Amino acid sequence: MPEHTGGDGWTILHGDCLRLMRQMQDGVFDAVITDPPYASGGSTPAEKTRSTNQKYSSMSSDKALPDFAGDQMDQRSWTNFMTDWLNEAYRLCKPGAPICLFIDWRQLPSMTDALQRSGWIWRGIAVWDKVTCRPQKGRFRQQAEFILWGSKEGMPLQRNVGCLPGVFRYSNPANAGRIHVTEKSLPLMRDIVQICEPGGRILDPFAGAGTTILAAVREGYEAVGIEKTAVYYKLGSDRVRFALAAGEKTK
Ligand SMILES: C[S@@+](CC[C@H](N)C(=O)[O-])C[C@H]1O[C@@H](n2cnc3c(N)ncnc32)[C@H](O)[C@@H]1O
Repeated sequence: MPEHTGGDGWTILHGDCLRLMRQMQDGVFDAVITDPPYASGGSTPAEKTRSTNQKYSSMSSDKALPDFAGDQMDQRSWTNFMTDWLNEAYRLCKPGAPICLFIDWRQLPSMTDALQRSGWIWRGIAVWDKVTCRPQKGRFRQQAEFILWGSKEGMPLQRNVGCLPGVFRYSNPANAGRIHVTEKSLPLMRDIVQICEPGGRILDPFAGAGTTILAAVREGYEAVGIEKTAVYYKLGSDRVRFALAAGEKTK
């Protein structure tokens, strides 16, 4: 058994998601909801290989959060890696399971390729409006990220899930409160997990600060996360444990 931690209805495993997913049984998850490393953050290879802090954070270097793994891949390696883990995720899911993948504008085309190449049915793109972001003179703001979504095989309309929005408007967590460089908003993730049938088991192979895991448990789901970067495995696990113990509803 790999290093892991957890509590009532949740587990976070420490390690490489591809290696760990290969050890799991077929058809054990009802949804995959995740925010993988984008390997983005620049127009040139040199810009993209900067540290995750340099690429994604506006914090001063004395307050910088730890960097995370998997974000400096070249384009072809990244697309192949996305396809590989998406293949495994497909095997691990039950027929009809939904999948939601966070992605930015640069990697959206490659991610749609990887999703379909690994057998998933691509069903659409929801928009996360981040509300605030850096203004750019003479340019459009990069104010949105995207939630690419689909399903394993057909997605019956009689699933016990209501109508969900196509646009989500939530600010990024404030620098002062966040523990991960690219942490997602907890209220946003509480909305997104609702694509899964009530009480289902959700997989997040790139758990980071555990936001999906915390959101899922708060919404009555079971959740399994995987995190490779040791410091985030520890920080995310502690965050989920303390938040659930405190009965915390929002961050
Ligand atoms: C974009 S972050 C996820 C942030 C998360 N949604 C949150 O709210 O904190 C992606 C995470 O995936 C992890 N990661 C990268 N490659 C991985 C791999 N091969 N297996 C497991 N985790 C990986 C990184 O360490 C990073 O913490």
